[in-house]
Amino acid sequence: MSAFECQLAESQRQAVQAEIDARKSAKERNRLGQFATPYALAVEIAHYVESILGQPNQRVRFADPSIGSGSFFSAALTVFGCKRISSAIGVEIDPEFAGAVRCLWSNAGLEVVHGDFTRVIANGSCPLAPNVVLANPPYVRHHHMSREEKARLQALTFKMVGIDVNGLAGLYVYFLLLATAWMEDGGVAAWLVPSEFMDVNYGAALKRFLADRVTLIRVHRFDPNDVQFGDALVSSVVLVFRKAPPSADHEVLFTFGGSLAEPRASDLIARERLREARKWTAYPNHLNNNRHAVALGTGPTLGDFFRVQRGIATGCNKFFILEREVAARLGLPDKYLRPILPSPRQLKITKIDADADGHPLIDSQLCVVDCNLPEPMVAANYPALWAYLQTAQSLGVMSGYLIGKRSPWYKQEQREPSDFLCTYMGRGSGDHPPFRFIWNRSKAIATNLYLMLYPKPNLAAMLRCYPERAEIVHTLLGQVTGNELRGEGRVYGGGLNKIEPSELARICAASFVERWPEIRDGGVVQGKLFG
Ligand SMILES: C[S@@+](CC[C@H](N)C(=O)[O-])C[C@H]1O[C@@H](n2cnc3c(N)ncnc32)[C@H](O)[C@@H]1O
Repeated sequence: MSAFECQLAESQRQAVQAEIDARKSAKERNRLGQFATPYALAVEIAHYVESILGQPNQRVRFADPSIGSGSFFSAALTVFGCKRISSAIGVEIDPEFAGAVRCLWSNAGLEVVHGDFTRVIANGSCPLAPNVVLANPPYVRHHHMSREEKARLQALTFKMVGIDVNGLAGLYVYFLLLATAWMEDGGVAAWLVPSEFMDVNYGAALKRFLADRVTLIRVHRFDPNDVQFGDALVSSVVLVFRKAPPSADHEVLFTFGGSLAEPRASDLIARERLREARKWTAYPNHLNNNRHAVALGTGPTLGDFFRVQRGIATGCNKFFILEREVAARLGLPDKYLRPILPSPRQLKITKIDADADGHPLIDSQLCVVDCNLPEPMVAANYPALWAYLQTAQSLGVMSGYLIGKRSPWYKQEQREPSDFLCTYMGRGSGDHPPFRFIWNRSKAIATNLYLMLYPKPNLAAMLRCYPERAEIVHTLLGQVTGNELRGEGRVYGGGLNKIEPSELARICAASFVERWPEIRDGGVVQGKLFG
């Protein structure tokens, strides 16, 4: 194929891709993780791979394990040229894409295997080991994979790579490991994958693989505020590595933001340091990286002073959470209603006072239905509540997963109100923190859109002695920086951040100890009591 023919085929590819995308619903595309790599990005990745291949005229045996319409193959043709590519294989599960890619590129020597890559690789029918893999695997999350499918993939990956993949890992983790097993030793691979594995526990096996088993060359994380795939809610990272054991003093180039060719921040990180690091998104440690200031893991943390717990999952907020006024109008008994905070979006303040009944003093007072009486007793003693519960069936509430597991189905998880809360998800860049800390002086509990912070014994005892210090606690919590919160939490495409209880518990709490050194060992309280 001449350069002109390649360009022509690329324009046709873009048209075919748009046509197939338009025919599919978002649900269908999500099921198979069908979000094509923009051609300009594919070319940039191919250029980078070319720059590290080694000998300038080394023959390329190309592979893409989930080729789609062939964005990467097209880029490889542009960058390496047709003559340098001695073989090329693309695997694709979707018959429409498999047909289209075959039509577009068979003239250029692309061999298309129609099938599930993880099965093709398992039955040994994958031809010729490639020495260049360019891939953007399907971003299928684990909960869209059946239990049997996960067990099969876990067993296969263990057999082929010797790695135990956590059941919470998405399909792309298996793709990367299996395709690397297939690759020729010394070959180079570039993978465009979601960056969340860099931060979460289920990414540990992949991080270990990248740090120990291959020579990781480059990790470029895109700025999550600049979504690569428009409609796919993930943030992405390009991983480039050579299939060769790393040297002991190997360093990896971590870059962030901008483009692969012109990143906004960069840093060389020793492999040894990576092996220890819990969160790779903290690299490069540079002001431009909005997640750079991760606590070092030494010194006091919020978890030393607070027990952190997610708020309750009701199973159906629309049904179980009512305006207090509406509940009163329906005659629902007070003893089976608990005050509950509105969603963070509707809660504009960070200090909540209480009315005489302990309800928050806010515009829209809400309560959650929470009753532990068996159905016959509700029916006999609380007709209004019984009548309300009867409406659940027609509203489709009863088919919910949580509701099926609870007995009685209208009994909520039990939580005490907590003095402090943190919102569970949010946006915010630079100095603006993604989450808010709330000081709650009411008896309201919270849904799982909040994390609830319960002071542990030392801090609780101090607050009992000096209740006025609660305000300072709130101030200190509010001083946790956006970078610290983002560094411990996780980020999704479009800049949505979330933080889990264990992550919040790891935030540095040095300011608490600086202020009240005694709370480390309970001395303050003893001081007050005895001296
Ligand atoms: C994220 S898209 C990337 C497509 C293409 N490589 C690109 O970069 O534009 C992932 C592709 O993987 C395909 N796919 C999903 N599951 C697969 C599987 N088990 N085996 C092979 N291909 C699969 C999807 O149909 C989709 O075309």
